[in-house]
Amino acid sequence: MQESHAQPEADLEFECIVRGGNVVTPSGTRVTDIGIIGESIAAIGSNLVPAAKTRIIDASGHHVLPGALDVHVHLELPFCGTVSSDDYRTGTRAAARGGVTPLIDFAIPYAGDSLAQAADNWMAKADGKALIDYTFHICVTRYDEHKDQIRGMVDRGFTTFKEFMIYESEGWQSDDRALFGTLEKMKEYGTMLLVHAESSRVLDELIARNHTPELMKEYGARLHRMTRPNFIESEAVQRVVTWCEATGGQLYIVHMSTGEGADIVKAAQSRGVPVVAETCAQYLVLDDSVFDREDGHLFACCPQLKKPEDVARLWEGLRDGEVSVISTDTCTFTREQKSMWAGDWTKIPMGMPGLETLLPVTYTHGVLKNRISLDEMCMKLSTNPAKIMGLYPRKGSIEVGSDADLAIIHPERTMKVDCETMETNADWSPFEGWELAGFARTTLSRGEVIVDDYAVVGTEGRGKWLSRTKAGLQ
Ligand code: URP
Ligand code: ZN
Ligand code: ZN
Repeated sequence: MQESHAQPEADLEFECIVRGGNVVTPSGTRVTDIGIIGESIAAIGSNLVPAAKTRIIDASGHHVLPGALDVHVHLELPFCGTVSSDDYRTGTRAAARGGVTPLIDFAIPYAGDSLAQAADNWMAKADGKALIDYTFHICVTRYDEHKDQIRGMVDRGFTTFKEFMIYESEGWQSDDRALFGTLEKMKEYGTMLLVHAESSRVLDELIARNHTPELMKEYGARLHRMTRPNFIESEAVQRVVTWCEATGGQLYIVHMSTGEGADIVKAAQSRGVPVVAETCAQYLVLDDSVFDREDGHLFACCPQLKKPEDVARLWEGLRDGEVSVISTDTCTFTREQKSMWAGDWTKIPMGMPGLETLLPVTYTHGVLKNRISLDEMCMKLSTNPAKIMGLYPRKGSIEVGSDADLAIIHPERTMKVDCETMETNADWSPFEGWELAGFARTTLSRGEVIVDDYAVVGTEGRGKWLSRTKAGLQ
């Protein structure tokens, strides 16, 4: 690996040196030092020389990774008749403890709101609370009203937009005309459309057929699994990929959960269609047998967890490349909020906590189980999301000039997932009791230590909004 310095290192007065860690960089992984000046990485090389006041962070015996990006997060989201329980204070503390440095949330217009008002609302949620950097995908929920506002949002520094193919009752649903028209605009502006791909009409029909007191008594939360077969996702992925191919607009499939989805994306990519796909940590380590548990309703999320074959196919997709990003779709509801279901699965607030466990779950079940390498994990958690979301090279990589956003993890030390000791404002975790390695011993955000010895030490409100000028792999 080449040493990389902007200037000869002897001339540099480092404020901080991260010493002797196993550092993952674009040009290879090896034991070296990282020199930090201000908010940025100033040098990568062996035996960097400290000045009198340089802070030394001992990373020997640890991996030093680019901070993970979680590009699919919902904080303080009004949804399913309640509001998700992690706000920007607890959500970003949880993120930092898990080695996540920036996150991207979704600004969703409330009834009657413009896209600009949606962004303002989400800015206000983050203001004064965020511990890490953040930005938003802008959700186009009423195409005819919003379509002419997209250009203005691009000029304001937002380059990723989102449409949902379901959630009519929330007022969020887009039809094919909206998807097609928005993708045309993405092509025109060089921006990217994220899509939640599920087939609403057939899903609604399956829900209606099963929504009887007798079936609910017999099957309970298993009906969530029974009404969301794989074709609900794959038909929608196929359809929106068709609109992507027809328009040439960049498309990003969020939270892909099926093997069929991965097959469709792979085939489209081989034809040169500008589509990329994300999966989430929960789809890589859980399957829909959880609905047989007494507390199975807690695991209701949308899309739902799938079969072990899908889990295996998604890992394969990560290795082969058709799955580019691992995120969480964090949308936290407490046990009390989840209990709103009262036996009717259509009333379960859908979503799970995940920010705090993204890196530990991926490291423990990906790297330590030899499903992906350490470098591949950093591609999927850091570099690819940063590139695709228009944040690279500022974020997502350990390079001279990049923000000093780092996650320092012990290669083997495990911690038990225990909600009592976690930062998330959830009183349960889908991984409760699991022994996971990969929690951040130290997290740095723009050169500042915000997690030290596994505890959050950073100040809320220090996180900054990230303006962007591009998106996608163009
Ligand atoms: O269950 C989930 N995923 N809740 C959040 C909304 C969404 O579809 O991403
Ligand atoms: Zn979604
Ligand atoms: Zn989501």
